[in-house]
Amino acid sequence: MCGIIGYVGRNDATPILLEGLRRLEYRGYDSSGIAVMNGSQTIQVRKKSGRLQNLRDHVADSPAEGDCGISHTRWATHGEATDENAHPHTDRSGNLAIVHNGVIENYQTLREGLEAEGHEFKSQTDTEVLAHLIGKIYDENSDESDPQKRLVSAVREAVKQVAGTYGIAAMHTDAPKFLVGARLGSPLIIGVGNDENFLASDVSAVVSHTSNAVYLNDRDIVYITEDEFRVETIDGTASSYEVSEVDFTPEQAEMGDFPHYMLKEIYEQPESIQNCFRGRLIDEEASAILGGLNMSPNELRDVERIVLCGCGTASHAAMAGEYIIEHLARIPTEVEIASEFRYRNPPLNKNTLVFVISQSGETLDTLAAMREGQRKGHKVLGIVNSVGSTIARESDGGSYLYSGPEIGVAATKSFTSQVTMFALLGLLLGRMRHLSVDYGNKLLEEIRTLPAKVEQILQQDEKIKEIALKYIDAEGMLFLGRQFNYPTAMEAALKMKEISYIFASGHASAELKHGVIALVSETLPSVFIMPKDSVYDKNVSSLEEVKARKGPCIAVTTEGNTELEKTADDVIYIPEVAECLAPILAVIPMQLLSYHFAVARGCDVDKPRNLAKSVTVE
Ligand code: AGP
Repeated sequence: MCGIIGYVGRNDATPILLEGLRRLEYRGYDSSGIAVMNGSQTIQVRKKSGRLQNLRDHVADSPAEGDCGISHTRWATHGEATDENAHPHTDRSGNLAIVHNGVIENYQTLREGLEAEGHEFKSQTDTEVLAHLIGKIYDENSDESDPQKRLVSAVREAVKQVAGTYGIAAMHTDAPKFLVGARLGSPLIIGVGNDENFLASDVSAVVSHTSNAVYLNDRDIVYITEDEFRVETIDGTASSYEVSEVDFTPEQAEMGDFPHYMLKEIYEQPESIQNCFRGRLIDEEASAILGGLNMSPNELRDVERIVLCGCGTASHAAMAGEYIIEHLARIPTEVEIASEFRYRNPPLNKNTLVFVISQSGETLDTLAAMREGQRKGHKVLGIVNSVGSTIARESDGGSYLYSGPEIGVAATKSFTSQVTMFALLGLLLGRMRHLSVDYGNKLLEEIRTLPAKVEQILQQDEKIKEIALKYIDAEGMLFLGRQFNYPTAMEAALKMKEISYIFASGHASAELKHGVIALVSETLPSVFIMPKDSVYDKNVSSLEEVKARKGPCIAVTTEGNTELEKTADDVIYIPEVAECLAPILAVIPMQLLSYHFAVARGCDVDKPRNLAKSVTVE
């Protein structure tokens, strides 16, 4: 939800922190700030509401240098996006500063207690309360002569009083070149450099400085200096950790020649889909292999029911997964919105296998759903993109997407890779049950054609842009599909609404006549995702129902199927593909349509208003 980065080393911290914030802006961009100190001089804080450039301008006008510092880019949870509410926040002495990612649910109670002791607050944030609490404990612990131990101890005691989530970095003028971090429910990593170390929300903030990272666990307390770091548990005992190699390069995290990360990531899909199935197709078995499931063939054969949990785009991929797994493996499969699953307490039998799907691996609702499934004794497997993320580390196994970093807030390549993963899973499970060798081989062949077919669709980018511009004044948009493409319609609608801010909704096509068609008008286009498949004729009927009411229609159909030129106002063609793989192709034109529509409307497609890339609050 927010991004934090801290630095201790021999270079000026300010430019490093500002560059790190630029790489973290996709996590939140309501306001940003830095706090730096040189030796044990005073802490200099610079913070500004609005985009990162506002902070850069402020720092240029009012320089702040130091060899140790922390910084933050915010997605507001408590208090509006103002300069006062921007992080970092200090305690009442001004000698301690912190940045925080997460939500402190009991901050009001803590604040009232602190105010009763004379603490005065400048902001409406929960984070400032934590800063004062740490400062209070630090000031009271004067018996401890070592300021570093005193700060670690103050952070440890303070977070024990917190209900909620936190990923924090803290510093004190008494302990120069020394940062303390702690995490519960919000991600935090150590970037391990040469004569410099970092704390950050995720590796993209530090990947240009180091490719070595320590992914911290919940309840870890850490400290870093320029040449060492230590990881402890909240109880003060040494905590195990490993230094991992970051799995992507700085260039991969950059935008390259593209105007936006979103477009870059749309164009990366031939490669990201290939990366997803590379090494996982087994010709001699006409099947797939997913080593990370940590389940034997017999354990997989005993699975009687599958639950797929995710949020947003991940839940739409899960919807496609439901159709695909039931089609290929005939295992009852259902999708649960993660935030519902964690409270709904559904009756699941012991042979239910739960999957949690998450690009970031940090979405709090999905993390909580995973923990709820584990609490009920179910094996919970993760389908995750971010290596080393919390879900990846806490799940009972699972498979990485290997899509590379997805920076644009709107999920694109993660969706197609998630659906590809479900095709692999469905094939694996199906071939253990009833799928024939012949069918397995045919599906393997189809999967291998996906990257080239996606390339073909991308070549229609200009045509799709023209269609987007043709409907630029639309007040809203309906997206309709059946069977495997009902999830595609849902995902297409989310893309459109989240980056262009118009009303858009996805529906099973037949639902039109049950109320949705009342929305149809000459200014409300309907997009039908209708490849030439088993339900094509039914989709034709649905499209004609809309045309009969003068609703403009855009059709996505299989190349060569030119009959729709007569009825639809615009037609986009996609290559022929196995029906269960169609969402992987059909979503591409929808991603491009929403992208061009939003750009033409002047929206910031990489940082849509009110959104963040990783939602680590409930
Ligand atoms: C989709 O474009 C959005 N970025 C959002 O719905 C996202 O899919 C959702 O927050 C889940 O994120 P995750 O996959 O990282 O868990």
